[in-house]
Amino acid sequence: MLNIAVFCSGEGTNLQAIIEAVQRGDIKARLSLVVSDNKEAPALQRAKKAAVKTIFLDPQEFPSREEFEKELIAYLQEENIGLIVLAGFMRVLSPFFVQKYPNKIFNIHPSLLPAFKGSTNAVRDALNYGVKFSGATVHFVDEKIDNGPIVLQRVVEIEEDDNEESLRQKIHHQEHIIYPLAIKLFAEGRLKVKGRKVKINPKPQ
Ligand code: GRF
Repeated sequence: MLNIAVFCSGEGTNLQAIIEAVQRGDIKARLSLVVSDNKEAPALQRAKKAAVKTIFLDPQEFPSREEFEKELIAYLQEENIGLIVLAGFMRVLSPFFVQKYPNKIFNIHPSLLPAFKGSTNAVRDALNYGVKFSGATVHFVDEKIDNGPIVLQRVVEIEEDDNEESLRQKIHHQEHIIYPLAIKLFAEGRLKVKGRKVKINPKPQ
């Protein structure tokens, strides 16, 4: 069975959606590990409540990013992790790390990529830009930020009375649908990556 690790730095509402999808049996995989670089992340409490193993790694305790990532990789190897899910993880993974897990790392970004790529506040930026539609994107992680092949996207309409909070909520709602779905498809071996394109194969009969 596929072993999954989720990396979080904050609230962990996406983690929660993933926990629930695994518990329901929608995702046929084991949620083996939740990693955080923030000791206070509510995501860690969510994981503990669901009896998922947690690891807090303090980046300040490592002399370099590579050393931090080497330690991280050791934990991942110990659990035989086959899919890494970035869910509000506020650190950029180096090419060294990404190359160890080609097409095995997912990220979720709160915009319709490539719009608002690289933004740390894509929800606010979309609102300020005046776009009429935004949304959420699940993509594979490659060596560039918010750049890898797109797995799933969902559109959200921006209405005149929307503010940052209401738009964030609408986008979060869609994220909580597409992230578990993308993981389910991966776990079923139904995602085929060819260049920038991700083909979703039908469920075998
Ligand atoms: C999400 O909006 C995601 O798109 C972004 O970080 C946020 C994480 O939210 N990468 P949460 O911690 O899952 O609630």
